[in-house]
Amino acid sequence: MKQINRRRFLSLSSSSAIAVLIAQCSNGKTQKNQEKFQTFSSEHKINQSQDSLLEVNLIASINKINLGNKQAYLLNYNGQIPGPRLEAKPGDTIRINFTNKLPQPTNIHYHGLHIPITGNADNVFLKIAPGDRLTYQFQIPQNHPAGMFWYHPHFHGLTAEQLFGGLAGLFIVRGELDEIPEVKAAEEKFLVLQDFALDQRGNLLPSQELSIMTGRQGDLITVNGQSNPNLTIPPQGLLRLRILNASTSRFYRLSLEEHPFYLIATDGGALTEPIEMSELLLTPGERADILIQANREPGKYRLLNLPYQRVGMGMMGRNAPENQPQVLATVSYESKVAAIPLPTKLIPVEALPEAQKVRRFEMNHGMIPGKGMAFLFNAQPYQLERIDTQVQLNTVEDWELINTGIMDHPFHVHGNAFQVVSRNGKPEPYLAWKDVVLVRPGEKVLIRMPFRDFPGKTVYHCHILDHEDLGMMGNLEIQA
Ligand code: C2O
Ligand code: CU
Ligand code: CU
Repeated sequence: MKQINRRRFLSLSSSSAIAVLIAQCSNGKTQKNQEKFQTFSSEHKINQSQDSLLEVNLIASINKINLGNKQAYLLNYNGQIPGPRLEAKPGDTIRINFTNKLPQPTNIHYHGLHIPITGNADNVFLKIAPGDRLTYQFQIPQNHPAGMFWYHPHFHGLTAEQLFGGLAGLFIVRGELDEIPEVKAAEEKFLVLQDFALDQRGNLLPSQELSIMTGRQGDLITVNGQSNPNLTIPPQGLLRLRILNASTSRFYRLSLEEHPFYLIATDGGALTEPIEMSELLLTPGERADILIQANREPGKYRLLNLPYQRVGMGMMGRNAPENQPQVLATVSYESKVAAIPLPTKLIPVEALPEAQKVRRFEMNHGMIPGKGMAFLFNAQPYQLERIDTQVQLNTVEDWELINTGIMDHPFHVHGNAFQVVSRNGKPEPYLAWKDVVLVRPGEKVLIRMPFRDFPGKTVYHCHILDHEDLGMMGNLEIQA
């Protein structure tokens, strides 16, 4: 039984064109192939808008990259892992001249941004063939919240493979939150969490060697493409960590030795006030913006990834949870100083009006007659042409997300952020804007979502991207 399912999953998973190409290249089999691949320095460029325009050339290709303490052949944007950090402000125009130098089709999704979902904006139905170019152009709305967003490929069927190859970058919107005096005074660090599965030579492991059904994971965990980087807190004593889980499937249960976190923003922007927490679970696609006070004994403290089990017993395979905490980064500070106080108030999160409609989404995997195993919403695997959910622009809906399976599924929707109302009937303790929410086995999570500004067709899906590629996605049409 287990054997059959596994074989079925292998055939469902994408072919390994990329793995083959990389293998040829790193073997140095042909001189010609070797020359095509340059080694880039790990210099990381930030691209900020100027005079209300952010124009960037972005190239997706496969190159030899310095990763952690070794070299690896990875998919990347502009030779960087993670890709270049883009920064803009509300009202800015964004122009991204994109070139696909991958041997596969791809496209770009702007995860979490509230921008048009059609045309050459956040349109996941675009297909950019190998060798093709496309200019993405859109405007960040004047009233867009400040926050941490990101970009990554979203070509259905190849999303997991391409993200796992390394393609991801931050998209920061600067605004009101950044101007709060205490937040502004804090030392700001971005942490992009990615995991990789590499062989001895630094080639990506082919998907046959990965556990696709539970979601591919790699043993090499990197923070900004580095292994256990050192983060120093300068004398003012307040650290602002802005963390993105850019992994395909891996969850991070974060904790910093002896220091509580003060959460100030979630996926979609600021909270009303900081929330103290001793640890934080970040599922794929989620972001957290936290403040840390350097008010313990001066020294070094480890940022840990604590064990977490996201799949039911008996089907863990290669993704069995590590039972030891892993060190992600080290935070250090030298002298004890009068720390900047924490902000007491941030930006009020608006309470949404009552929903005009309630819908139910059941998440599970199952056998599809004639097709084998797939991942499903309401018992159906994804179909490109079928509209699963039709909503009206300028309405508010409640969506009941129910996980009837045995694996955790982080639910994500494009285009508009939502608020979690309750989990298993228990009201959420504070208001926050989210675009990914974890739904555990047996759980019923109620979210409330306004559909604003942009009509068109987009998607919702599980952000364990193998589950998305294997069918756990639906088409959402927002009607004007
Ligand atoms: Cu980051 Cu449709 O996803
Ligand atoms: Cu998204
Ligand atoms: Cu899932």
